[in-house]
Amino acid sequence: MNAAQPGILAPVPSHARYLTFELKQGARPQSQLKSLAGIADGRACVVGIGAILAFALQKKIDGLRPFPHYQSEGVSVPSIPAALWCWLRGEDRGEIVLRARTVEKMLAPAFEVAGSIDAFKYGQGLDLTGYEDGTENPKGKKAVGVAIVNDKRAGLGGSSFVAVQQWVHDLDRFASLPQKQQDNAIGRRKHDNKELASAPPSAHVKRTAQENFTPEAFVWRRSMPWADATQAGLVFVAFGRSLDAFEAQLKRMAGTEDGIADALFTFSRPVTGAYYWCPPVRNGRLDLRAIGI
Ligand code: HEM
Repeated sequence: MNAAQPGILAPVPSHARYLTFELKQGARPQSQLKSLAGIADGRACVVGIGAILAFALQKKIDGLRPFPHYQSEGVSVPSIPAALWCWLRGEDRGEIVLRARTVEKMLAPAFEVAGSIDAFKYGQGLDLTGYEDGTENPKGKKAVGVAIVNDKRAGLGGSSFVAVQQWVHDLDRFASLPQKQQDNAIGRRKHDNKELASAPPSAHVKRTAQENFTPEAFVWRRSMPWADATQAGLVFVAFGRSLDAFEAQLKRMAGTEDGIADALFTFSRPVTGAYYWCPPVRNGRLDLRAIGI
């Protein structure tokens, strides 16, 4: 689908910064969004529009909705909405820092920075626990079908939906677990990435096995590790032609169906959670016709 923001389907970059923005009180964001569309190519900067922003523009994007929240023994999944999401991607961290400043300044009359997370690629695409992340992502054409909206209407075909959660790991706790228990938490063996048929039902890959949902729940994951001076974890990012597959997985991870929570919650916790709609591109620039721009 050549109308999709190319950064969605591209390999995970070496460096990234995730910016989230809130709408300033009473702001009319049209001209800032027009400027953003002029510089965001969808490759070095993937953009997502939150439901709050669509609402402020008096536009409705079918399928864009509030992020769910769950709370039970040992499980806390917050829903923290934001108006706008920018995933700045690149191979040079300095260049990303400077691009972030440009985007923030450009949006400043209407948008306030609500969050900024620096992320990076670790090894060949590992989580900071040392496990390979992304193995069971769909490949080739299937990835396009899973991640990208197929719609003939102008401004909608080529778009995508994304779920984003910042997870904070307790790496000391994880390191204190015996190797077998670590492998059972993920459901794969760390040293060779082999899936463990004997893993308990709480194992992460048992909870989220994409073909074990009705209908099948495939997502296109593009998560990246993050760290600051005191904390570290994963920015979980899953694109989809709708939000249904992600939501079915999250529900099962939270244990709402059978009372079994995902073992990830024993050493990590999400501190944010939001949905965005990622517009398509036209002539190498964001196509914002669906939100009237
Ligand atoms: C701390 C956060 C998370 C970590 C560290 C993590 C890590 C992993 C790892 C290591 C794998 C195995 C390799 C692979 O297939 O990628 C995996 C698989 C997977 N994860 Fe996660 N994950 C996290 C959160 C989530 C969330 C929130 C979801 C969705 C709600 C999710 C959905 C999936 C799916 C769909 C698979 C593939 C399952 C399959 O079909 O085999 N993950 N994850």
